[in-house]
Order: sequence, then structure tokens, then C-alpha cells
Amino acid sequence: MTDNNDDIERPDERVPKRVIGTPSAAVETTLLGEQEKVEEVAVPGVKMPDPQQARRAERIAAFCFLITFLSAIGFIASYVAFQVHTLDATQISNLSLGGTLALALLSLATGLVVWVRGVMPKYSLVQERHPMASDAPTKDYVSETFIQGANESGITKHPLLRRTLLLAAAPLGLLPLVLLKDLGPLPETKLRHTVWDPKINGGKQLRLVVEGTGEPIRAADFNSPGGLLSVVPEGYEHDLTALAKATVILLNLRPEELKSGINRNWMHNGIVAYSKICTHVGCPAALYEQTTHHILCPCHQSTFDATDGARVIFGPAARPLPQLPLGVDSEGYLIAKGDFPVPVGPSFWERGDAEAEVRNQGGHA
Ligand code: FES
Repeated sequence: MTDNNDDIERPDERVPKRVIGTPSAAVETTLLGEQEKVEEVAVPGVKMPDPQQARRAERIAAFCFLITFLSAIGFIASYVAFQVHTLDATQISNLSLGGTLALALLSLATGLVVWVRGVMPKYSLVQERHPMASDAPTKDYVSETFIQGANESGITKHPLLRRTLLLAAAPLGLLPLVLLKDLGPLPETKLRHTVWDPKINGGKQLRLVVEGTGEPIRAADFNSPGGLLSVVPEGYEHDLTALAKATVILLNLRPEELKSGINRNWMHNGIVAYSKICTHVGCPAALYEQTTHHILCPCHQSTFDATDGARVIFGPAARPLPQLPLGVDSEGYLIAKGDFPVPVGPSFWERGDAEAEVRNQGGHA
């Protein structure tokens, strides 16, 4: 019979002294020696490591821990040895501190992983699944509990409480609606028109000017087929809000290159202007392949055929780049005879209404 007091450690000359870092005698029985014994009795779902491999893993892990020890000592030594009086000295200090700490942590982690994977037994775990729905008795119990709670609350017997509770809850439901106001004012018809519309400028038809320099463009001077020019409305060169919709690209095409999709009445001597705002999500479509007359949007590679009304021939854009009606004023400078026939840029909720409105007005130009 064992005395319970045997579990209590007492100073005793007959008990060997423990070395720091070794487990107590009680724990020692659960280490590898014991595991080897368990392996003899095969336990379903538990795979004991091969003793030879386990010993090898043990040596590797121990080696890693040794590196950790040395690296930690190296860290302390670096901290003492390398002072940070100058920039070079600080760099050396940082390098040695970071290097030794990284090596210490890496070797510690490696040792632990090798220990767990190579020395410890492996378990095959099976997670049993159970039906998600509650069974009938549970449902009945929940239902009864709810009804009991409702009865005990006295919600039907205390109309004052019931009504004030409903009163308190009503504005809470409205809070999300109030927050919707923070979405800002509605755009109304701002997305439907650009500043090219003469109505916005008191009937004046705006000149096209070169983006950046503000120079007006004489039609006779823009005669090099294959070129592309980025232009903006005169008077709005620095109005970023207006330019976000009104910037256009100007091209010069040969008559024999034109296809049916282009509106020739809105061209002037082979010069055509398209909106620069991509109809996908609004990037500037300003890359141009001279040989194919393809306008490219760099964002998602939508490609438009400049000779065919900027029809989409590739990419995610769903609509052509709108064409701007062009003409010349009395001095021979290029002007916009009207606004774009449809809203420029990407889709928006009321876009269908906007196009219908333009159609009802009979278009432009
Ligand atoms: S914005 Fe032009 S392709 Fe997407």
C-alpha cells in the first residue's frame, strides 16, 4: 500500500538531486521510453514514431536549440559590443542584433517543429458530424420556453410598457434611413450633359483647345492622319469637374477608312472627336494605334475602333465612346456644335432615362 505522503518531495539524501531542465521523476514516465512501450500495444488511430527516426529527430531538435542558445548569447554580445555612435556603427549594430535574433527564433521554431513532427505520436482524428437541425423535443422545449417567457413578461397585461417599448423602437428602425442622407445630394441631370452643351454657355459653341497649352486648333492645321490630340473646352481648361466629363480626343482619318458607325456629319475634313472617358469605368482612353486606328483604354484593355464610331471591339466596355459634333467658327477654329449625343463615361442608374431624354430632344447638332 502506498502512502499519499510519498507524492510530496522532501529533502532526502537517498533521492537523487534533479538537474535543471529535466522533468521530475513522476513526469519522466511519460517520455519516449514510455511511448515505445505504448507502441507495442497498437492503439487504433495513433501512429507512434519509428524509434530510429525519433532519435534522429531528437538530435536535430537538440541541435536547433543549441543554435538558439548560441544566437541568443550572440544577440547579447552584439548589444554590448556594437555601440551606435555613428551611422555605420548603427548599421552594424542593427545587422548583428537582427541577424542573431532572427537566427535564434528561426532555430527555436525549427527545433519545436522537428520535435513535434518527429518525436511525438501522430493521431488520426475524425470529427463526427451531426444534424444541424434541432430535434423535435428541443424545438418544443424552445417554443414552450418562449411562450412561458412572453407570459411572464406580462406584455399583454401591461399596455403602458408595451406601447412605450414600441414607441422607443420605432425611431431606431428609422436610423439607417437618416444616415442615407450622408450619401450626398443626388446628381440630378449633371451626368447627362457636359459643358460642350451650348445651352450651358448662353448659346455659345465652344472652341476645342489643346489640353495643357490651351491653344485653339485651326482645322487646317490639324491635318496629319494618324495623330491623336487630347483637347478640352475653351474656358474650362482648369475646371477639373467639367473636364472629368468633357475631355475629348481628336483624330484625323482618311475618307476611305471610315465605316458606317461613324457620324460623318459630325466630322470636319476627316477630323473626328470622341469622348476620352472610357465607357467601362471612366479611365482616360488615350492610347492610339495609328496603323489599326484602335483607341485603347489602359485600365482594362477596352479597345475602340476609331473608324467605326469608336465601336467596342475588345474588352469590358459595353458602349462606344460618344462622338462630339464638330464644326469650325468664322476664323476656322474647331468648335463643338453641340453636346455629346449620350451621357459620357460609365453606366449609372438613370442612364437609360438620360438617353431617352436626349432622343426626345431630337439629339444634337
Ligand atoms: S476603364 Fe477602360 S477598360 Fe476599364
